Amino acid sequence: MKVLTVFGTRPEAIKMAPIVKTMEQYEEIENIVCVTAQHRQMLDQVLNLFDIKPDYDLNIFKPGQTLTEITTRALKGLEEVIIETKPDLLLVQGDTTTVFAGALAAFYQKVKIGHVEAGLRSGNIYSPYPEEANRKLTGIMTDFHFAPTERNRQNLLREGYPDEKIFVTGNTVIDALFHVIKEDYVFEEELLNNIDFKNKKVILMTAHRRENIGKPMENIFNAVLRAVEKYEEVEVVFPIHLNPKVRNIAYKVFDNHPRIHLVEPLDYEPFTNLMAKSHLVVTDSGGLQEEAPSLGKPVLVVREETERPEGIIAGTAKLVGTLEENIFRELDLLLSDHNEYTKMANAVNPYGDGKASKHIIDVILQNIR
Ligand code: UD1
Ligand code: UDP
Repeated sequence: MKVLTVFGTRPEAIKMAPIVKTMEQYEEIENIVCVTAQHRQMLDQVLNLFDIKPDYDLNIFKPGQTLTEITTRALKGLEEVIIETKPDLLLVQGDTTTVFAGALAAFYQKVKIGHVEAGLRSGNIYSPYPEEANRKLTGIMTDFHFAPTERNRQNLLREGYPDEKIFVTGNTVIDALFHVIKEDYVFEEELLNNIDFKNKKVILMTAHRRENIGKPMENIFNAVLRAVEKYEEVEVVFPIHLNPKVRNIAYKVFDNHPRIHLVEPLDYEPFTNLMAKSHLVVTDSGGLQEEAPSLGKPVLVVREETERPEGIIAGTAKLVGTLEENIFRELDLLLSDHNEYTKMANAVNPYGDGKASKHIIDVILQNIR
């Protein structure tokens, strides 16, 4: 059986890596990997860590790429790869433009599609943008929906997808996370080793969403800056996404503050171990909303909607929007009120047992011949 696994960005690579590595152990599966390379450096970081050498690399990345450019370049490249490899199944993961283009390319060649991380819905087609649309468009073409949680399954059932095509598997991000978190982890980055995680309250921050770029992102950064200025013991580590639009706002607002460390995107291993040592997380990322609850780290989700309500229901995450005053108020509360902090700092894991990859491969083996 030939399985063509397609991915293009950092989070897809992190979440596909456990599937690719596990499939390598099965003789009956011919494991073909194609990266669109929608991301370049941020993708290569993950490929190196997990020692994945793609069979095809479409190398579509261009600085400042538009959604149309990503879609058309990926679609064209994937058409050729699919015609050449004739897979029995094409696997995509998540909600990026690579996912949509991958599913569409497979659909055009009448190749079966497996969608990993299916059924997440925010309910607002413009938030996250364009991811909510990518998920729905991919769902329409999908033969096997691998839903991380029961809630995701229910979303798909509500949209009329047949039960027998939906499989609740957990999220492969937990498989990846278990692989990299280490007790007493020592960073290679001198700056991170020098941070006094025991006596300081370290905020780990990331931000990159398209719909936040501009005023919402300025609001988020200003709220964090106010918290740092109010509390001497607070330090921030912000590995900044390579998008220059994000970088410009960060440099403008934070302006070389001695307790705000703006660093390059970290490899997955140091990044997650940094999260494990941090006090709390401020983010608009999807993946971080899944990882932080597992590590018992309170997360302030700086977005208007989330398609990942599981952490919020469990009490570890709070959806705080993108208004400066609201974000600052919630940060202030977490930094000053010990009870409030401990209430949120609970390790919960709504995303499975770390064996999602195995569950997905079992379904593939049972259903594709
Ligand atoms: C993309 C996904 C988003 C996902 C995110 C993960 C789409 C439309 N968006 O958003 O769903 O959450 O990846 O990070 O699919 N850049 C580099 N080097 C890199 C990567 C990015 O320089 O390795 C810069 C480039 O200037 C690029 C910009 O970042 O133009 C944005 O990259 P792009 O892939 O278009 O969107 P993301 O915001 O990364
Ligand atoms: N991540 C990383 N290095 C960083 C920042 C994030 O390895 O400097 C990881 C993080 O642990 C998570 C994933 O990248 O697994 C999230 O990616 P991102 O926030 O870019 O995308 P999203 O999850 O929002 O699609």
